[in-house]
Amino acid sequence: MAVDFISKELKALQDAGLYRRLRRVEGAQDATLTIDGREVINFSSNNYLGIANHPSLAAAAKAAIDRYGCGSGASRLISGNMTLHEELEAKLAEFKGTQAALVFNSGFQANTGILSTLAGEGDVIFSDALNHASIIDGCRLSRAKTEVYRHCDLDQLEMLLKDAPSGARKLIVTETIFSMDGDEAPLAGIVELAEKFAAMVMVDEAHATGIFGSNGAGVAAKLGLGERVAIQMGTLGKALGGFGAYVAGSHALRDLLINRCRSFIFTTALPPVVMAMALSAIDLVRHEPQRRAALWENARSLKQGLRGLGFELGRSESPILPLIIGEAEKCMKFSEQLLARGVFAQGIRPPTVPPGTSRIRMTVMATHTAAHLERALKAFGETTAPA
Ligand SMILES: Cc1ncc(COP(=O)(O)O)c(C=O)c1O
Repeated sequence: MAVDFISKELKALQDAGLYRRLRRVEGAQDATLTIDGREVINFSSNNYLGIANHPSLAAAAKAAIDRYGCGSGASRLISGNMTLHEELEAKLAEFKGTQAALVFNSGFQANTGILSTLAGEGDVIFSDALNHASIIDGCRLSRAKTEVYRHCDLDQLEMLLKDAPSGARKLIVTETIFSMDGDEAPLAGIVELAEKFAAMVMVDEAHATGIFGSNGAGVAAKLGLGERVAIQMGTLGKALGGFGAYVAGSHALRDLLINRCRSFIFTTALPPVVMAMALSAIDLVRHEPQRRAALWENARSLKQGLRGLGFELGRSESPILPLIIGEAEKCMKFSEQLLARGVFAQGIRPPTVPPGTSRIRMTVMATHTAAHLERALKAFGETTAPA
C-alpha cells in the first residue's frame, strides 16, 4: 500500500531511539508543571522569566478580547492589520532601538521568510553550524548558496567570505544565544568581518530577547552593536511568555518584507490577544529588571550545583544548561529517571542536535525557588549518569 512507508519510518525511528511522543501538561505553564496528574519541577521551558502565566499578560489579553475581539480575520495586507499590530511594532522598534519592526506569526516563519526574501540564487548565506532548523530551512528556501561555518569559528567564516564570488550578495546569519548549547556567538567579530567583506548580518535573538542587555533587548543591544546589525530577529514566545516573533531593523527592511516575504504575506495575521500579551510582556521586561536578576542568580546557582556533582555543562553562558549524555536512548532514560524523581528536564536528540550529542537541556527560570533548585540537585545526585 502507498502508505506502508509511514509505519516503516516510525519503526525505524523507534529502533534508533529517536521516536518522539507528545507529553501533556495539565494546567498552566509555571516553574512547576502537572504531568500525568503529578507535580514536577519544570526545567524544560523557554519561559525563562516565568511570565507566561503572569496576571498582567492575562489581564491585557482579556482586555484586548473585549475591545478588539478574537480573530484577525485575514492576512495583514488584506484586512487583518489591526491597531495592536502597529502598536506592538512601534513598541518593539523602540525597545530594540531600531527605526522599525515587523511582527511574524512565529520565529520559524520569520526565519524562513526573512532569509528567502533577502537572499536568492547567486547570493551566499554564511550560517553557523549550530543554527536552528528554521534558519537552515530559510537558507534552503532562499536557493542561495549556503556556506556552513564551524560553530562560532571566525577564522573559517573569514576564509569563506574571502572566497565568495564578487558581486554576490552576502548574508551572515547566527543565533546570538544558541538554543541547545546556551553559548553566545562572537557577534563583535562577526560584525567586523561583515563590514570588511560588505556582508549583511542577521541575528536570531530567540533565546536572548528579554534576558540579555540592560533592558532585556538582547545580545546585540548588550554589546552596543544594534546599529551595525541590520536584521535583528527575535521571538515573543520564549522569555516574553506569549507567542509570535519579530524582526527589527530599518524602515526599508520592514517595507521590503511587507512586499516580498511570503511567510508574512500569505498567512492570517496574529489575533489581537497575542499582540496585547507581547505589549504587556515588554513592559514587564523593561520595568522589572529584578526578574532578570533572579534568573541569572538561579542560573549561577544551578550551574555551580551541577558542576559540583561532576556534570559537564559545556560552554553555557546563559540559562540554558546542556548536560551532554551522548547516545539518544541513554539520554532519554536519564530524563525519565529525573522525571520519576519529580524533575522535568527533557532529553534532546538528533536531528535537533548533532548525532552522538544527545543531551538533557536544562533551562532555568526566574521563578524557580531555592527549594526547586535544591530538589533538582538532589534528583541529579541520585540519578546515575549512564555509562
Ligand atoms: C533559535 C530559534 N530560532 C527560532 C525559533 C522558532 O521560534 P518559534 O517557536 O516562535 O517558531 C526557535 C524556537 O524553537 C529557536 O530556538
